[in-house]
Amino acid sequence: MGQPFAPISRCKRAASAALVTEILPMSLFSPIRLGALDLPNRIVMAPMTRNRTPGQVPNALNAEYYAQRASAGLIVTEGVTPDASGRGYIDIPGLYNAAQVQGWRQVAEAVHAKGGHIFVQLMHTGRISHPDFLDGAQPVAPSAIAAPGEIYTHAGMKPHGTPRALEAAEIPALIATYGRAATLAREAGLDGVEVHGANGYLPSQFLAPNVNQRQDEWGGSLENRARFLLGAVDSAVAAIGADRVGVRLSPGGVFNDIQDPEAPATFAYVAGELAKRNLAYLHVFNTNPGFDVAALMRANYKGTLILNGGYDRARAEADIASGLADLVAFGVPFLANPDLPARLAQGAALNAPDQGTFYGGGAKGYTDYPVLAG
Ligand SMILES: Cc1cc2nc3c(=O)[nH]c(=O)nc-3n(C[C@H](O)[C@H](O)[C@H](O)COP(=O)(O)O)c2cc1C
Repeated sequence: MGQPFAPISRCKRAASAALVTEILPMSLFSPIRLGALDLPNRIVMAPMTRNRTPGQVPNALNAEYYAQRASAGLIVTEGVTPDASGRGYIDIPGLYNAAQVQGWRQVAEAVHAKGGHIFVQLMHTGRISHPDFLDGAQPVAPSAIAAPGEIYTHAGMKPHGTPRALEAAEIPALIATYGRAATLAREAGLDGVEVHGANGYLPSQFLAPNVNQRQDEWGGSLENRARFLLGAVDSAVAAIGADRVGVRLSPGGVFNDIQDPEAPATFAYVAGELAKRNLAYLHVFNTNPGFDVAALMRANYKGTLILNGGYDRARAEADIASGLADLVAFGVPFLANPDLPARLAQGAALNAPDQGTFYGGGAKGYTDYPVLAG
């Protein structure tokens, strides 16, 4: 005879579990489905360039650093070049050749061995670069407009210089590098990719009217200025599926001399377009530009939303409980606290970050931050 009903004790357990889910608000420690992944918590490690990958091939030290932080629900790696033309900084990793795939494989394996999940951030820096990083070639950008300021090279600080405006005919191949890098990411065993559309790098340069002064289908109207970013996203989606692709935006952000007087309209449009694509997530770096970024993004993006920028535990819990954010990303706190989720859970004190070792160097300030005892 079959057993039509579950034993009473199991029924009780199931009922009380349902009750708990109903009554308790979502917290940083509630599990969540993110695209193709089941995450144990809603704490994301924000992408952070650390300039510790000489030769652009991820190494054992990089693997150790990420593995130490595998208790994050999701790690988003530092910005990684999807194409040799997009390398803007000293000693940052790439993802466009076989050696790099091999290097990323050791990172993915180290993180997975500790139960973590890891997306690679695809960052083409466009005009934020220097010929010293490009075998003497000029950096590329939507228009030939130099970014003010200087960049740190092997020979010290140098001005960015004027980039070369991309030919319209070159752009589809450049967009396709995002799809190729996404394929390589999966080949390396990484869980997915985040298209870096924030902070004044190439897709953000296309979006910005002061940097993009093109008159063709890649500039002018909002639809045209968004075409590069959406094309890069679609390229990655076609390669590995929407449920393994996220996007990062910094609405209203001015880093790298981005100026957009219509930023709320720009980013409402972009969020709406991204929402149609059923992505793993939208990741928003809120730089507090003078409008309510989080509310604008939430209103225009119905999918999974990660918020970032100056969060501590109390604000993160409040934004998750209210439904403003689905997950929260922590940058500097994760850099300095490999066991950040445990510390947040216990309300433990956080290590102080050492700013002098953020960019470049070795293990000091990278893999030597202490974890809680026990
Ligand atoms: C050392 C360092 C490197 C960073 N590199 C990147 C990067 O490669 N890509 C990116 O999108 N953001 C980068 N950021 C920004 C962080 O992802 C994050 O948005 C910022 O630190 C704010 O979050 P927080 O207040 O939690 O630190 C970097 C930040 C720091 C401190």
